[in-house]
Amino acid sequence: MTESDLPVTERDRPAGQTYRVATIPGDGVGPEVVDAARRVVNAVAAAHDFRVAWTQVLAGGSAIDTYGVAIRPDDVEACGAADAILLGAVGGPKWSDPAAPVRTEQALFALRGGLGLYANLRPVSVHPALVAASPLRPELLEGVDLLIVRELTGSVYFGERQEPSGEPGDRRALDTMPYHEREVARIVRLAFELARGRRRRLMSVDKANVLATSRLWRTIADEVARDYPDVTMQHQLVDSCAMLLVRRPADFDVIVTENLFGDILSDEAAVLAGSLGMLPSASLGERRTEHGTFGLYEPIHGSAPDIAGQDKANPIGTILSAAMLLRMSLGREDAAAAIEAAVRATLDAGWRTGDLADAARLDDGLVVVGTTAFATAVIEQLQVAARVPE
Ligand code: NAD
Ligand code: IPM
Ligand code: MN
Repeated sequence: MTESDLPVTERDRPAGQTYRVATIPGDGVGPEVVDAARRVVNAVAAAHDFRVAWTQVLAGGSAIDTYGVAIRPDDVEACGAADAILLGAVGGPKWSDPAAPVRTEQALFALRGGLGLYANLRPVSVHPALVAASPLRPELLEGVDLLIVRELTGSVYFGERQEPSGEPGDRRALDTMPYHEREVARIVRLAFELARGRRRRLMSVDKANVLATSRLWRTIADEVARDYPDVTMQHQLVDSCAMLLVRRPADFDVIVTENLFGDILSDEAAVLAGSLGMLPSASLGERRTEHGTFGLYEPIHGSAPDIAGQDKANPIGTILSAAMLLRMSLGREDAAAAIEAAVRATLDAGWRTGDLADAARLDDGLVVVGTTAFATAVIEQLQVAARVPE
């Protein structure tokens, strides 16, 4: 291929560009899946003539053990100065004492809140080769392609709270769930914009029959909807939404919802994709970098303490998060699409991590491997694709 064969955007981009990505491996399987994704990104970078300058930050349990806090303010700032952040997961039984004043999750809130990352995008699709990995009937999974847009810096996660206090028999605690209309309007507006680039169907999910914040949410969603007559919006209560997600998942296009509901619905939606290990996410705010929108990218799963340190974790959610990072924060659609195609090809070739291989349904063609070998298989698919002219 010669220079003039390249699409204009590729031709105009300086050769050998370097991007700055901060990694936060975290705890449990976090370091294993981040390492897998970093290897895949380095391979795609080599094939597409760019470099990633990686830095690493301690957060979660590892930071508590080292510094006594879940993340240091300077480290939040350093992450915010990069082009993007790739995070594994934080937490684990060692730091889960309910009475502990310092909690691993504080790192996530410091990053999300501190860097203004209010929009968490969690796409869900079903690879045809993984239909058997889901407990749902195959015909329900056909055509599933949905996007959960989760508000990430408000609600009960950031509301005032009172930790448990009082004598045994009379102990109390309090969480509050505040929302300002600005917080609702900006996430709903973003969801409408994203729906415009998809099938133009938006479901706004709330609990307006109980919660005042949900009634505010519904009013604001209706107001924003006036600017998007080309998108069909429907309100749905969260309990019935949870039921519909497994009853008629292919009917969904974009879901927009508040922080806690989005957290819960996205773990449920992972069942459609075959495993919690499959789903990526992007957390975005207002800040633009030279190359795109600054963001934090992480799989939706946690530190999976039950399989940590055993090279068993499925790295796909993190690898696909890295693809989202390349697309949204670095403006590298070419590299993002190459990673996504390589993941699909790896699954088509029969490679599986344990979570995707239901022993009872294993065909002869499937090969069950660990985290590292799966990433190597993805890298091999990337290299095969780079050698074959399109
Ligand atoms: P989890 O997501 O860690 O694990 C739930 C189940 O899914 C486990 O059986 C686990 O083995 C499995 N699983 C998760 N990821 C997998 C992967 N990549 N491959 C294969 N199997 C996978 O949820 P949990 O057990 O409820 O939480 C464990 C810890 O993780 C808690 O401390 C929690 O707070 C934390 N957590 C952190 C994040 C984050 O850092 N963003 C997200 C969720 C949970
Ligand atoms: C997630 C996680 C976090 C959340 C926890 C670990 C605080 O479940 O990122 O989905 O609830 O946001
Ligand atoms: Mn979650």
